[in-house]
Amino acid sequence: MTTVALVPAAGRGERLGLGVPKALVPVRGVPLLVHAVRGLLSAGRVRHVVVAAPPAEVWSTRALLAAHDLPAEVVAGGADRTASVRLALAHALAVHPGTRVVLVHDAARAFTPPLVIDSVVEAVLGGAPAVIPVLPMADTVKRVDAHEVVQDTPDRAALRVVQTPQGFEVGTLRRAYAEAGDSATDDAGLVEKLGVPVLAVPGHAHAMKVTTPFDLAIAEAVLAGGSA
Ligand code: CTP
Ligand code: MG
Repeated sequence: MTTVALVPAAGRGERLGLGVPKALVPVRGVPLLVHAVRGLLSAGRVRHVVVAAPPAEVWSTRALLAAHDLPAEVVAGGADRTASVRLALAHALAVHPGTRVVLVHDAARAFTPPLVIDSVVEAVLGGAPAVIPVLPMADTVKRVDAHEVVQDTPDRAALRVVQTPQGFEVGTLRRAYAEAGDSATDDAGLVEKLGVPVLAVPGHAHAMKVTTPFDLAIAEAVLAGGSA
């Protein structure tokens, strides 16, 4: 059963504010994208990796991954994450028609433990059409209106924080993207619109997304083997 991983890495990293695409920002001297692709391949479950890079960085991204001995295909990404995944998915379906399982994994979640990747793939192979790694909410959450007036307090016990890789039976993801009218912040959101069940499995703190300079400091500590 061939598993392909799509890696959206075409974002600009504006909240990080370093003036370079986030995927190219180094952690311990190595770009986030390299950490992410290496992690995916080292989990031993992924046959092909398709990276969506910033359009101006396609060739340099190919060279970067080759320099680190990482076999990956690189396509130009789109204007938002959904567009980038759509382009990477189209490439994967065209070039790897035997694909049965598709993972979608943010380059920004570069330190996801292999165990998380493994359990997502296992759950899809076990028959779940869509699988997402999640964590419980640590904080109380409020819903507010447009004026920041609190409306209510959802039951935290029923809420989850969502990570990647998200895993899909190939036909389910293809259909979700074929029928998607708009963008979503995650791929499972598009699958939910089909009415297809999405299964949550345990994620991991190290699968955090590097979004802000604070997150980058945490990532440095995680990679150093600290207790972050
Ligand atoms: N992404 C992408 N194509 C885009 C936008 C985002 O492939 N047009 C990717 C990012 O590279 C990242 C993932 O989607 O790996 C999650 O997006 P996010 O954390 O928002 O990254 P950026 O868009 O780079 O950051 P920012 O929103 O701060 O600019
Ligand atoms: Mg973004």
